[in-house]
Amino acid sequence: MNSKLSKKTALITGGSSGIGRAIALRYAAEGARIVITFNSQEAEANEIVEKIASGGGEAIAVKADVSVEAQVLDLFNSVYAKYQSLDVLVCSAGLQKDNKLTEMSLEDWKKVIDVNLTGYFLCAREAAKYFITKDHNANQTAVGNIIFISSVHDIIPWSGHVNYASSKGGVAMLMKSTALELAPHKIRVNSISPGAIKTNINKNVWSNEERSKKLLELIPYGRIGEPDDVAALALFLASSESDYITGTTIYVDGGMTLYPGFEDNG
Ligand code: BGC
Repeated sequence: MNSKLSKKTALITGGSSGIGRAIALRYAAEGARIVITFNSQEAEANEIVEKIASGGGEAIAVKADVSVEAQVLDLFNSVYAKYQSLDVLVCSAGLQKDNKLTEMSLEDWKKVIDVNLTGYFLCAREAAKYFITKDHNANQTAVGNIIFISSVHDIIPWSGHVNYASSKGGVAMLMKSTALELAPHKIRVNSISPGAIKTNINKNVWSNEERSKKLLELIPYGRIGEPDDVAALALFLASSESDYITGTTIYVDGGMTLYPGFEDNG
């Protein structure tokens, strides 16, 4: 049996739905011990924990708003109380609150920055504090691994979504600066930037025939992505097979970042 993450502990924020859920299930199938967080979706989170347990794996769900420092500290204490260790952090808790710039409230600006960017900072900081205490030497593989789920909108501007695009642009530099700072400690930090993936965040688009057709014009590869497309890469980045990769963003977007408008124009 393949178990690329056996004896590893993985914390996946936002693991109760969408991309985070797919990553949690994938990691569990590869032998990892799992912690997922949820904010409002307790039933969904419990269902994932049960699913993993029924497959012979280990998982817990912890309620946490990743933008609140005290809750993040409690979350990490819950991880250590349960497993006495941590090897992989995947930051996947995120949201959109869309509006035109001129109509965007400060509240909606702050909410998105707080969860999508400050939440990543808080979790990465706590994970790093722990990883740094682990014994390491130059010849071994990473002692800690941080993966940020970002977005193609860390480089593609998106009108009507300035808060979201700014948060993801921030994640790009958070990732690189953190990767630089932590590399000497044998801690790897990378981002995965998905394009349009079928989750709740964009259900209003892919579940509508007309909007879905328009969306496909932005995807040269001709299909909307699935959470498992992202989970496959998240597994590679968490495993020792990618041990020499740090400070990188990998796009999982069916070519969305290839500027498809230039296919027959320009
Ligand atoms: C957003 C989705 C969007 C996709 C491509 C993602 O980061 O969350 O709503 O469909 O980018 O634009």
